[in-house]
Amino acid sequence: MCGIVGYTGKQNVEKQILDALELLEYRGYDSAGMAIMDDLTGQIQVRKCAGRVSDLRNVWCQNLVSGRCGIGHTRWATHGGVCDENAHPHRVGRITLVHNGIIENYEALKDHFGLADQLVSETDTEVVAALLNHFYTGDPHQALVETVKWLKGTFALVVIFEDIPNVIFAIRNVSPIVAAYHKNGTMLASDVAALGGQADRYLVVPEYHVVELHQDAIQIYDMEDRLCEPEFLEIDWDTTRDGKGQYPFYMEKEIMEQPEVIEKTLSSRLVDGHLSLEADGVPDEVLKACERICVVACGTAMHAGLVAQNMVRSILRMPMDVEYASEFMYMDPVIDEKTLVLAISQSGETIDTLEALKYARRQGAKSIAVINVKGSSIARESDYVMYTAAGPEIAVASTKAYTTQLAALFVLVGRMAVVRGVFDEAAEKTFVNGLVQAPEAMQKVLDRREEIHHIARGLLEAKDAFMIGRGLDYSILLEGALKLKEISYIHTEAYASGELKHGTIALITEKTPVVALVTQERIRDKELSNIREVQSRGASVVLLVKDGIKLNQEDYDHVFMLPAMADGMMPFPASAALQLLAYYVSMDRGLDVDKPRNLAKVVTVE
Ligand code: M6R
Repeated sequence: MCGIVGYTGKQNVEKQILDALELLEYRGYDSAGMAIMDDLTGQIQVRKCAGRVSDLRNVWCQNLVSGRCGIGHTRWATHGGVCDENAHPHRVGRITLVHNGIIENYEALKDHFGLADQLVSETDTEVVAALLNHFYTGDPHQALVETVKWLKGTFALVVIFEDIPNVIFAIRNVSPIVAAYHKNGTMLASDVAALGGQADRYLVVPEYHVVELHQDAIQIYDMEDRLCEPEFLEIDWDTTRDGKGQYPFYMEKEIMEQPEVIEKTLSSRLVDGHLSLEADGVPDEVLKACERICVVACGTAMHAGLVAQNMVRSILRMPMDVEYASEFMYMDPVIDEKTLVLAISQSGETIDTLEALKYARRQGAKSIAVINVKGSSIARESDYVMYTAAGPEIAVASTKAYTTQLAALFVLVGRMAVVRGVFDEAAEKTFVNGLVQAPEAMQKVLDRREEIHHIARGLLEAKDAFMIGRGLDYSILLEGALKLKEISYIHTEAYASGELKHGTIALITEKTPVVALVTQERIRDKELSNIREVQSRGASVVLLVKDGIKLNQEDYDHVFMLPAMADGMMPFPASAALQLLAYYVSMDRGLDVDKPRNLAKVVTVE
């Protein structure tokens, strides 16, 4: 979490920093700040405040400074509450720095070096600034190297020294930093999104190396102070931001883009009507040799894994576990060289997923990452990568990233079925025919979004809600419930409908609306019986049902017919309907749909 940025060059730095911070705001938006080397006085001027980058712009306007070198930060609070003092940059002595990550031993360092008197905030970061100041005697490299030797935890540190004009220093462990030549200068940031279309190439700063940014040069040194050759990568990822267009929020735009990006995700993997992972470079041997599959992922990405698990079990008849990446290492996972680990992540930077993947690889597992952001840490760490073609996803609530993950995972499972002899040609054809209908089925739901808007009005006053279904429907609803709770703040639980009566049904009253999903023909009767059980306790029911499933519509408060597809493909239209439901509830409650409270788009702390 947290977005960090630095620029040194010939242009006015405040514009570079503020624009880049806006592009990085999805990493955290509790507070924002920047430090600039004042052209007139040579001194470092810090401006910071609780709130958004737009608030920082206002603070800046009230107290302008002009300069050509500076650093900036947008925060997701870890240590210390959301207030001006805890916002970054932090300054101690000649040091001013911003930080992304967590310093686990900051209390011990504070005591050991007697730094408490120099601190004004509650943050771990300010302790690092004080420690660096303690070690700084004029040699920045020596001070940085000495400081990080003492740090336990993850960090991306970007530093300016008051007596070294127009040079930015950085060093990192785990938390990412990229650097690039920029028009008229050089720049670094937490990720390529901040480059905003102003660079063609970038380098990933290696861990435990000191990077120096000058106005016309980027230099990297190892811990023994030897100059290293930087390795630049092409940016084949659209870092320009074309805005929200006609939509009030990015989330709506991204929901509406789904048919197109799912088609894109599928197209390179459907070759002459056959499923292919050739373009991804995934050898058939890897798909054949594994004996079990394990997904490591978080949040929405983990829910995509749960949908895939249904398919793996029903089609491949293989064991598959889906684990919270954050719990993985502590649950003694059964992983060996016969395990295929799937690391699923939109950002490719989620630290829990990254660490789980590293752990699995240490046990000998082979890995495929399903990733949206090109060249991200998880993509680089994995044996093979399948990129989704979602394009930049800006809204914190994931929508198109999720459904493109599903598309990629469906191709993977289908291809495994082919190479393992589960699918003959006819079965592959049926599967492919089903899959290629997904964009159209989603489009049909999107075209009827006003119906869902109408249904959403019935949820506006709810404090609690339930979403119920069985089997695949339950997996789909876990994601639907996450969407509703994270952006509308309605406490929503997805529940396996048959399980309700074992305790949770005690919570059902006329004040707890229930969203029921029925898309699987073979369990229709049982699902409908479970819906009757909640209706008998007074709950109003919104029913999302696959067109063609027989029922009496008058029995429900609202019914939305989902376009019929093969049962296994129903996650696509069903997810679109659930996303829209959450979206309209949030919007009509007057909330900031794209930036829900307490959240960040990229989660780089454990
Ligand atoms: O970038 P990742 O896909 O690894 O992120 C994992 C979760 O933080 C993420 O899916 C989160 O749950 C969603 N943004 C919620 O909508």
